[in-house]
Amino acid sequence: MKTIHAVAALTVAAASAVQAMITCDSNNPCPSSAPCCSSYGFCGVGAYCLGGCYTKDSFSIDSCMPAPVCKSSDYDFSSMDGFVENTEYLGDPASGNWVFSGNPLMYNNDAVLLTMTEDSSGTLLSSTRYVWYGKMSATMKTSRGAGVVTAFIMMSDVKDEIDFEFIGTDVATAQSNYYFQGITDYGNEKNLSAPNTDSQWHTYTIDWQPDSLSWEVDGKVLRTLYRNETYNATAGQYHYPQTPSRVQFSLWPAGKAGNAQGTIEWAGGEIDWSSPYMQNGYYYAMVKDVTVDCYNPPAGYNNQGNKAYWYENKYGTNDTVVIGNNNTVLSSFLATGEEPKKGASSSVAATKTGSKSTASSSATAQPETIPGVSGGGSRESGSDVASGSGSSSGSSGSSGSSGSSDSGSGSTYTGSNSFSQGLESGSGTNDGNRVVAGSLVALVAFFAAAMML
Ligand SMILES: *[C@@H]1O[C@H](CO)[C@@H](O)[C@H](O)[C@H]1NC(C)=O
Ligand SMILES: *[C@@H]1O[C@H](CO)[C@@H](O)[C@H](O)[C@H]1NC(C)=O
Ligand SMILES: *[C@@H]1O[C@H](CO)[C@@H](O)[C@H](O)[C@H]1NC(C)=O
Ligand SMILES: *[C@@H]1O[C@H](CO)[C@@H](O)[C@H](O)[C@H]1NC(C)=O
Ligand SMILES: *[C@@H]1O[C@H](CO)[C@@H](O)[C@H](O)[C@H]1NC(C)=O
Repeated sequence: MKTIHAVAALTVAAASAVQAMITCDSNNPCPSSAPCCSSYGFCGVGAYCLGGCYTKDSFSIDSCMPAPVCKSSDYDFSSMDGFVENTEYLGDPASGNWVFSGNPLMYNNDAVLLTMTEDSSGTLLSSTRYVWYGKMSATMKTSRGAGVVTAFIMMSDVKDEIDFEFIGTDVATAQSNYYFQGITDYGNEKNLSAPNTDSQWHTYTIDWQPDSLSWEVDGKVLRTLYRNETYNATAGQYHYPQTPSRVQFSLWPAGKAGNAQGTIEWAGGEIDWSSPYMQNGYYYAMVKDVTVDCYNPPAGYNNQGNKAYWYENKYGTNDTVVIGNNNTVLSSFLATGEEPKKGASSSVAATKTGSKSTASSSATAQPETIPGVSGGGSRESGSDVASGSGSSSGSSGSSGSSGSSDSGSGSTYTGSNSFSQGLESGSGTNDGNRVVAGSLVALVAFFAAAMML
């Protein structure tokens, strides 16, 4: 949840530099021309309609693409095989297990680094398949330092959420939390003890069942929540996470100057961008291994097939989820759930050009195609630099090092001993970001504060 606040703030900063992007909220769903509402509250087509497409504020119940069903797997992060950038992924889980934005890097063929350079929004990694109840484990080390947050979460397209979050000023604690449909209830957070989360490998497990939810550290159950404890009498509903969710890992700048004060305080203060906890110019967390054990769908579910989850209506509760045989793949970044074949003949490169021209020409009516990307590109006034970076603010690590983004990004991400590699770059986009940020701090702060309510 807090992840969304921060990234939304950064997205606003980037987007506002060029043109008003179309926003979506519960009173203003997206228009048919850009039907998909991102989890950050902006409308678009293409990647906006894939993972994270916010069903409730999208144009119609068909706008968001059906989501690939759970598949039990052990993902060994000794390579980045199966990682696809969000500027490439069109919804086929056979094309990759993990979709990323920002700059993940390999470390010694042993673990993936989630990196965060100054003025970037860090790195976000999401499973391409969803889970509708399952047991997820991740072996990882967290980052350190004020304002720096490492996260291992489950997030659904109606914002049900289950969290492990690690604040960089407290490496003896794993914060456990959960949300039903994004409703903030500060009483849901509980601290679990986990020694030296930054220097020792620990395995964190989320055991998510229809009636109970447990958080485990190294195989020991430290917290269990029962569905029957979450009943909200006002709403007449269980405020329990209950809808198909992606597995996500992120390293993100909660303590970035300009974020909501509450978020900065929660994260242990403002980020020091010349901290000794940075190496090669970036903060980093490490993920070594991830397992997903899918449970059976819940008793009595709406069974119409076995390939994809979709919602029957916008209530977004467990009983509105259907498992069908629906297609999950878009033909291009111009396509949507209503028109999944749109732009079938244009290549990926051509649609990315389309996205770029959106950024460079504020007059064009071309909808946004990838959350965050054209906003990042906008800072460069239409230059191609930032389109290689998926992160919301144009991560300096990836965009700077690639130069000519599209061809360069591949080599940046796959270097096998790249711990010392990630940062050689960076400076290109930072200056632009500072200029933009300076004039937009007030707006960002306002927006982030509004979203904290
Ligand atoms: C999934 O497929 C079913 C059966 O063809 C169809 O009725 C439904 O509208 C589809 N759902 C979505 C979200 O496309
Ligand atoms: C959890 O620990 C943090 C310090 O790391 C503290 O600020 C917070 O209040 C604690 N939360 C709870 C619910 O005890
Ligand atoms: C909730 O459910 C659990 C397990 O099903 C049960 O042990 C417990 O007594 C229930 N608690 C309440 C308050 O009903
Ligand atoms: C119950 O749900 C409503 C929203 O539906 C929320 O505003 C309220 O805070 C919840 N109450 C509790 C005690 O969580
Ligand atoms: C949905 O949750 C309700 C409790 O709110 C439960 O009784 C029902 O069995 C669940 N249905 C599915 C399909 O999970």
